[in-house]
Amino acid sequence: MKKKYYIQTFGCQMNVHDSEQIAALLTEAGNERTNNAVNADYIILNTCSIREKAAQKAYSQLGRFRDLKRKNPRLIIGVGGCLAQQWGEKFLKKAPYLDLVFGTRNFHRVPELINAVETTRFPAVETAFHEGDESAAAVTAMPQNGQVSAYVTIMQGCDNFCAYCVVPYLRGREESRKLDDIIAEVERLAAHGVREVTLLGQNVNSYGKGLPKGTDFAGVLQKVGNIQGIERIRFTTSHPKDLSPELIRCYAEVDKLCEHIHLPVQSGSDQVLRRMNRGYNRDKYMEKVVRLREVCPDISITSDVIVGFPGETDEDFRKTTDLMEEIRFDNLFSFKYSERAGTAAAGFDGKVSEHIKGERLQVLQALQETHTLEKNKKVEGQVVEVLVEGRNKNSPGEAMGRTRTNKIVNLKGSPALVGKTTPVVITMAYQHSLRGELLSKKEIDRC
Ligand code: SAH
Ligand code: SF4
Ligand code: F3S
Repeated sequence: MKKKYYIQTFGCQMNVHDSEQIAALLTEAGNERTNNAVNADYIILNTCSIREKAAQKAYSQLGRFRDLKRKNPRLIIGVGGCLAQQWGEKFLKKAPYLDLVFGTRNFHRVPELINAVETTRFPAVETAFHEGDESAAAVTAMPQNGQVSAYVTIMQGCDNFCAYCVVPYLRGREESRKLDDIIAEVERLAAHGVREVTLLGQNVNSYGKGLPKGTDFAGVLQKVGNIQGIERIRFTTSHPKDLSPELIRCYAEVDKLCEHIHLPVQSGSDQVLRRMNRGYNRDKYMEKVVRLREVCPDISITSDVIVGFPGETDEDFRKTTDLMEEIRFDNLFSFKYSERAGTAAAGFDGKVSEHIKGERLQVLQALQETHTLEKNKKVEGQVVEVLVEGRNKNSPGEAMGRTRTNKIVNLKGSPALVGKTTPVVITMAYQHSLRGELLSKKEIDRC
């Protein structure tokens, strides 16, 4: 009988993608996925450690899995991702019921490690990085039937060492995947019906370090843009300091590149940006936004901000809200600063109280809500191109897709629409989505 595995993921798109790869490998090895942890033979938790809250979420979920193991001692529980990378072998001391601990560059070995645990009944730990080893990035699982959109890893790790961030310690040094391998993967995805790819990395726009001269991210976009069958290209995440003029020009030159960029600013205050080690100041960030809008007037710009970084004064915070007013992001992810052991900022003076962080977060979120709605309202009445991804999970019988600017559109439509790019008139804009209607053939002809 097939063994059942349950896999749960916390954290960023990189973790989501890694989990999909683990799932594909486990299925290929003859196992079957289940959506119910209770009847699983293997449970895999892919964790995140970016903020303390993310780590706590993983610990409490593991506690639930421990209870399942009490009832079923043969259950194998594996923990991977950034929190597992952080703890390594010590995770077994914290949680002795674990059978498997694997790191951020070892996920491709999960099936083999599970086998070892089943044979020996001893826990397995594998968190070592092997420099130049691309095998984790090179796992290229087959897309699922009907899958419209897929992630493609183009680089691993991060070399930026922003003062608050654990990622460089947990995902290792930046390593770019070979361009030919990336192209081959996208071609394979296209051949299996995928229409949209999102190129993934912590800092995609510094792609090319360690590769032959002249290989840069703009070059990747140009090449992927020539692949037949792919209709849309997205990427995440890009660092403002590495947003080159060549990359900005791609928004005019590569038709398939969608009009959206996630460009985390983190703060509007130069003093805070310097202490964060971000490598740009407010003016430099603004210049890039202005240039992006010159080249691509309809571009949607989203961002991340941290409030309450050590030393952030009321005045610094006001500079962040000023910047938001000036730029008017399409969406913003805002976070309370969370101290992470081992990072530079953990040793900084001027800690901001949780109370003040909470107040600042509320101000940002309220301001952003007005900006997001204002941006969404601008699309009302327009005809936009929507790629239909699947059904609207909140309203059966309806379809869900996205605009090129990455806004969600719900519309009445049949399953035959999935995977199709179609013109849609936006009839209503909400905070988190748009509502649209398919155009009739006559209306399309008129457009
Ligand atoms: N590589 C991406 C970010 C990955 S982490 C980039 O540099 O853009 C996603 C977001 O989490 C960051 O942009 C930052 O806003 C937030 N973040 C990272 N570390 C944090 C910390 N210690 N406390 C609070 N937020 C943090
Ligand atoms: Fe973290 Fe900075 Fe690297 Fe992003 S660029 S992953 S915030 S160190
Ligand atoms: Fe979290 Fe690791 Fe991603 S810390 S945000 S899962 S890189």
